[in-house]
Amino acid sequence: MCGIIGYVGHRTALPILIEGLRRLEYRGYDSAGVALASPNDVTVTKSAGRISALEQIIDVESTQTTGLGHTRWATHGAPNDVNAHPHADSSGRIAVIHNGIIENDRALRTYLEQHGVTFTSDTDSEVLAQLIAQLYDGNLEKAVRQALHEVSGTYGIAVVCADEPGVIIAARQGSPLIIGVGKDEHLLASDAAAILAHTSQVVYLGDGEMARITPNELRITTLEAVPVAKEVEEIEWSLEQIELAGYDHFMLKEIFEQPAALENCLRGRIDLREGTVHLGGLVDCARELVRAKRIILTGCGTAWHAALVGEYLFEELARIPTETEYGSEFRYRNPIVNEGTVVIAVSQSGETTDTIAAFNEAKQRGALTLGVVNVVGSSLARGTDAGVYLHVGPEIGVASTKAFTGQVAVLALIACFLGRRKHMSPTAAMQFITALSQIPTQVARVLERADDARKVAEKYQQRENWLYLGRGYNYPVALEGALKLKEISYIHSEGLPAAEMKHGPIALITEGMPVVVIATAGSQYEKIINNISEVRTRGGSVIAIATEGDREIAKMVDHVLYVPDTLEPLQPLLTAIPLQLIAYHAAVIRGCNVDKPRNLAKSVTVE
Ligand code: M6R
Repeated sequence: MCGIIGYVGHRTALPILIEGLRRLEYRGYDSAGVALASPNDVTVTKSAGRISALEQIIDVESTQTTGLGHTRWATHGAPNDVNAHPHADSSGRIAVIHNGIIENDRALRTYLEQHGVTFTSDTDSEVLAQLIAQLYDGNLEKAVRQALHEVSGTYGIAVVCADEPGVIIAARQGSPLIIGVGKDEHLLASDAAAILAHTSQVVYLGDGEMARITPNELRITTLEAVPVAKEVEEIEWSLEQIELAGYDHFMLKEIFEQPAALENCLRGRIDLREGTVHLGGLVDCARELVRAKRIILTGCGTAWHAALVGEYLFEELARIPTETEYGSEFRYRNPIVNEGTVVIAVSQSGETTDTIAAFNEAKQRGALTLGVVNVVGSSLARGTDAGVYLHVGPEIGVASTKAFTGQVAVLALIACFLGRRKHMSPTAAMQFITALSQIPTQVARVLERADDARKVAEKYQQRENWLYLGRGYNYPVALEGALKLKEISYIHSEGLPAAEMKHGPIALITEGMPVVVIATAGSQYEKIINNISEVRTRGGSVIAIATEGDREIAKMVDHVLYVPDTLEPLQPLLTAIPLQLIAYHAAVIRGCNVDKPRNLAKSVTVE
């Protein structure tokens, strides 16, 4: 999605802006631009395509010390030079960058045209620049404030003006902005990754807040001009975590980070002496949570798949009726939220619009809302009543990998936390958390055999249709495996509950069609073996994910990728790994841009 970087200070802004834009690339974009403010004018340079295209046309000698940079992911208007941000007003003295969507842009555009304004782009964002310019009477902050009172929609904006060259005005409504605090300088970004090279001291701007930012002063107010006191917080991520560290792609790095990421996620939360789980983020609402009559898990994409594993976990361990809802469906279908309903939003970024909207809807209807989120300080993390962070470190690759296993691990912890306070015996809890504590080492063991997954990808990478089958806890993993493959290698793939195959999809199976079947030891093993034979009978090639020691299965399938044995509810933490690797290698072999797949963005901040 779109990315924002801003700088005001004593250093030359341009290199800082370009570096920030590069660190925002992973979010997905189709054009980029910068605006540099000086007392003479605001110089805007922008270009469709990659940041390297922008660098070719930019004046590298620029010495201005105030500027804005933007990566755009097109929503209103084609991804071309003209629609790229920043947008300047007709006089060229004010420039705006904007994330989000202005919903009343048509009405505002018509109004401004009637007052003699000529627009150059098709974007809703140019409306902001023109409107602010119309209202400007020598005080940029006042003009932005007045303009925002006319606007409906979502925004994270930053504005500069030639008449106030050492000032950035920023404002937020539904689209994240953080302000980095340095010595005699401030940075502004939509994502911590863009500023981490310069400072880890940040202030999170809240919805409905504005900031007037100069090198030495940061003043935050509400849209109504009421001063807001803010604390400077420390970002816990390090610069190394957002760099490739010798890996070819962030996705591969993040797959291999999973043992350490899960170790981090579980640290201090599992008490093997007491046989219990400690979740500081839930302590204040534990009583209400334990009394929940119903839990709704909500999320999108990979997070939704993790939530589905959570549904199984909550029902089995805590015996609380649970359902999993897509954020986009929940918000619009007049959902039933009774007393005792708890809604848990699952999200890596904490900025996914549909998930936030679902959770807002639940909140308005009186539900206790919890977040299972990775990004500290994100919109979801700040908006929920309570929650549990993943602590798996930054995820840069568009394809979610370590966030998925982190989400499942956290949901397993919450399930046990609740289960132990309800029906779960100390022995059962001890067995569960002991198995959970072994998962990081077991993931490392799966990764030692990464080459087996690469060979499978190599053999079948030319096949354009794949099926993924699983049962029980591994059904969501089948969905996740199929999503991973399609999103980065552009191979059509479907995930199914294995038994559903014979209700239609079995008609798709042709000679040699790759069918990945998760056939680990467990209560449904015999059933899934039957499904394997149904596939084989019709000529499909079966790639089984099986439990170490299962030699028999090797005689029934074309390939086996082994994972260590664990409790059935924890299997997704292991079975997901070979599927991530297959998708990764298939994409690399097919020459796809693994970390920036076509049409996709890391964080989906539009409906
Ligand atoms: O940041 P979130 O977890 O809320 O993102 C939700 C989905 O957009 C995300 O999981 C998406 O499906 C992944 N990129 C898939 O790998």
